[in-house]
Amino acid sequence: MIFYWNFALKLTLTDIIMKTFKVIASLTIAAIFSSCGGEDKPTTATAAQEEPQSMVKDAETYDPKRGEGKYTAELLALSDKLDEAQAKIGEDASNVKCTSCHKMTDEKLVGPGWKDVTKRRTGEWIMNFITNPDPMIDKDPEAQAMLELCLVRMPNQSLTDDEARAILEYMRKVDGLK
Ligand code: HEC
Repeated sequence: MIFYWNFALKLTLTDIIMKTFKVIASLTIAAIFSSCGGEDKPTTATAAQEEPQSMVKDAETYDPKRGEGKYTAELLALSDKLDEAQAKIGEDASNVKCTSCHKMTDEKLVGPGWKDVTKRRTGEWIMNFITNPDPMIDKDPEAQAMLELCLVRMPNQSLTDDEARAILEYMRKVDGLK
């Protein structure tokens, strides 16, 4: 008799403990979910509101053909004849500041090879990029694609306007301009 009573009591106690545990567990889970949901919702909503706004703003102000900076096609007014003397100055400057990362072929070193760079980019894009790469690496879709491949951000080489222009002339020479 005592044995049976004991057994029955044990069952009931186990039952109560299990039930209490289940209640605590479900309350805890409910608390976790509601707090996450509470914090998540506004964040998601803000991100969803901000992203399209900033993209629209960029699309309005950022010109992927020109890049970001002071150079425009009008300011550069590139001639279709090569300036040999200027290209030579550009070649010397490149050998000091650029060829540790860039080859003249289409082969990548640290950065992309320069072959045909004057055909895939406009002169003003190149000038804006090489005089101040950072804002364009942040915004330009092509520069971002290159960053994904190269995994290194091109450091600002502190080029003067004249150096940059001479290097562009050298790039035009490498691409076959006469
Ligand atoms: C430390 C390595 C490094 C040096 C030095 C360097 N670059 Fe770069 N360059 C890069 C990388 C990496 C990229 C790819 C873009 C990015 O992710 O920053 C790049 C991209 C470029 C591009 C765009 C190429 C394309 O196909 O559109 C041009 C133009 C360029 N560099 C010119 C220069 C010039 C001019 C110099 C020297 C004054 C120079 N770079 C020095 C690493 C370098």
